[in-house]
Amino acid sequence: MAVYKVNFLAHLLVLGMFLLVSTDVKGCTKECGNLGYGICPRSEGSPENPICTNCCSGYKGCNYYSANGTFICEGQSDPKNPKGCPRNCDAKIAYSKCSRSKGKTIIYPTGCTTCCTGYKGCYYFDIDGKFVCEGESIEPKGCTQECDPRVAYMTCPSSGLAKLNQVCVNCCTAGEGCKLYDHDGSLLCTGEPQSYISAA
Ligand SMILES: *[C@@H]1O[C@H](CO)[C@@H](O)[C@H](O)[C@H]1NC(C)=O
Repeated sequence: MAVYKVNFLAHLLVLGMFLLVSTDVKGCTKECGNLGYGICPRSEGSPENPICTNCCSGYKGCNYYSANGTFICEGQSDPKNPKGCPRNCDAKIAYSKCSRSKGKTIIYPTGCTTCCTGYKGCYYFDIDGKFVCEGESIEPKGCTQECDPRVAYMTCPSSGLAKLNQVCVNCCTAGEGCKLYDHDGSLLCTGEPQSYISAA
């Protein structure tokens, strides 16, 4: 009986710990941060809507391309400690590819964001422009769950690249490396890693 009781308590304890962990992933306080701005290097621009930057101001971890898709350079600026770079637009650069897509690269103002609620891969600065911290929270993937009617089938690395028909996915919800094809068999898009976000 005694053994049974200990076992039961141990189970409760484990369950309690699990609930604590799962319900309160990041115990952020509800206070507002007093941050000036944030930098979240993200893919920006397109051949039609080129960005204004240069290799010096571009961020490390982001690659910069010309309108014809030629690789120009990797950015040289550490987002935690942006360099004093000339502000000219390099006419060769049209768009960037960073590990995260969509959303604003420079967040200003930051609202109530704190270091705890801020996102990993985003760097926060005080009102005077001094680096404060990298965010600690995982950014939720802001996908709608709609089925993209253009998708005829997809292939995913996890299913050995077999054709998966009648799937309800869109380019945002597609798993990493999954390729979505339309009814003509043309590639629509490739799923991005789930931790890379589109907060549209
Ligand atoms: C692509 O663009 C770059 C930069 O503008 C240029 O140097 C290069 O010659 C172009 N390549 C082609 C194939 O058009």
